[in-house]
Amino acid sequence: MKILVIGSGGREHAVIKELKKNKNVEKIYALPGNGGMKGDADLVDINVKDLEKVAFFAKEHAIDYAVVTPDDPLVLGMVDYLEKAGVPCFGPDKKAAVIEGSKAFSKELMKKYGIPTAKYEIFTDECAATEYVKTQKLPVVIKADGLALGKGVIIAESVEEAVSAIKAMMEDRIFGESGTRIVIEEYLEGPEVSVLSFTDGKTVVPMVSSMDHKRAADGDNGPNTGGMGTVAPNPYYTADVAARCMKEIFLPTIDAMNKEGRTFRGCLYFGLMITKDGPKVIEYNCRFGDPETQVVLPLLQSDLLTVMQAVTNGTLDKTEVKFSNKSAACVILASEGYPVSYEKGYEITVDSGFAAEVFYAGAKEENGKLVTNGGRVLGVTAVADTLKSAVSAAYENVGKIHFKNAYCRKDIGRRALLAEDK
Ligand code: AMP
Ligand code: GLY
Repeated sequence: MKILVIGSGGREHAVIKELKKNKNVEKIYALPGNGGMKGDADLVDINVKDLEKVAFFAKEHAIDYAVVTPDDPLVLGMVDYLEKAGVPCFGPDKKAAVIEGSKAFSKELMKKYGIPTAKYEIFTDECAATEYVKTQKLPVVIKADGLALGKGVIIAESVEEAVSAIKAMMEDRIFGESGTRIVIEEYLEGPEVSVLSFTDGKTVVPMVSSMDHKRAADGDNGPNTGGMGTVAPNPYYTADVAARCMKEIFLPTIDAMNKEGRTFRGCLYFGLMITKDGPKVIEYNCRFGDPETQVVLPLLQSDLLTVMQAVTNGTLDKTEVKFSNKSAACVILASEGYPVSYEKGYEITVDSGFAAEVFYAGAKEENGKLVTNGGRVLGVTAVADTLKSAVSAAYENVGKIHFKNAYCRKDIGRRALLAEDK
């Protein structure tokens, strides 16, 4: 089989490495992929937003199956294009991807179907939003409606901060058209849990839970990033919480999307806050999370391609999806200064004793050498019997990868380990 994986990050590298384990897979194309994936996939230099060109490539190269992972092409309707070209896909169509593409849509969906989430109001008028925010409890959360590279959420501690966030989004359009509409919502407290799930629109199978570390600096300080590391499973996601999530959130969401004529097939990501009133949805993503995927897929024991095809064919209920009982930790090695400003083009070297998985993200080949080419350069994942040993193995191996200005958080997994001890 020839497989096309669309995207270029560490998440895609994790997907590719897992798909490669299937003996029927002869070739994987990564579009556009990155230089660190060489040896695992053939790179295709096409922009992921150029739907027509991608569909043409897939047809011309007789692709048997495509996996669409990033939010942009999914929200633009990449799956619709590829399916029209006769290429079966893993990923939601455009109608279903709106669950991530519009925060206003997802909030209205949750309200209509009684799915627990933060209280909110939607605004298209800056004055109305400004007046409203003055009456709200602090902190208050301001979100741009559309995609904003994971940066469209501002947690305002004061009215002044809230007002200037509204202005920045609605008037200055710092997130472009994504700020035409904004959502203002109640601040929720509690530990966060990420749950990725496979769903074919009838059956929903949650994967092992995980914990992201979104802030750039140790102790959850500094600016928000795409994610600086992850651990799985997440100790806050107890059997009791999992049962509530299935009943109150996962099944009602699948059902709600069906009722809206937007059946979701693919990986539905539930960003959850475990509040004192129970689990609530912070956000939905229409795709695998990054870097959650880099700890979740290494724990998958079933064959990923078989599970993905069951999602596409609507036979997930008949397919085994098994995860190991081990733990995984992923530490992101980034370029110093990420996410604000950073230098690129430094050679990446790996010592000979390296003994973990490495998933490349911001890397490219230059004159036969692998060099840094982004903020998040790579992720190192270790799997072990306990979370503690997974975390220390990940850090031990991170120490064996070198490039100039390399930076990582030193406390990935610390909060999870403290929670385990309680
Ligand atoms: P999102 O892009 O919606 O995932 O938001 C980014 C991050 O902002 C989340 O991972 C949370 O840490 C935080 N966040 C978003 N919404 C809320 C909320 N209502 N209350 C507290 N924190 C929030
Ligand atoms: N790690 C969060 C996300 O993928 O959106």
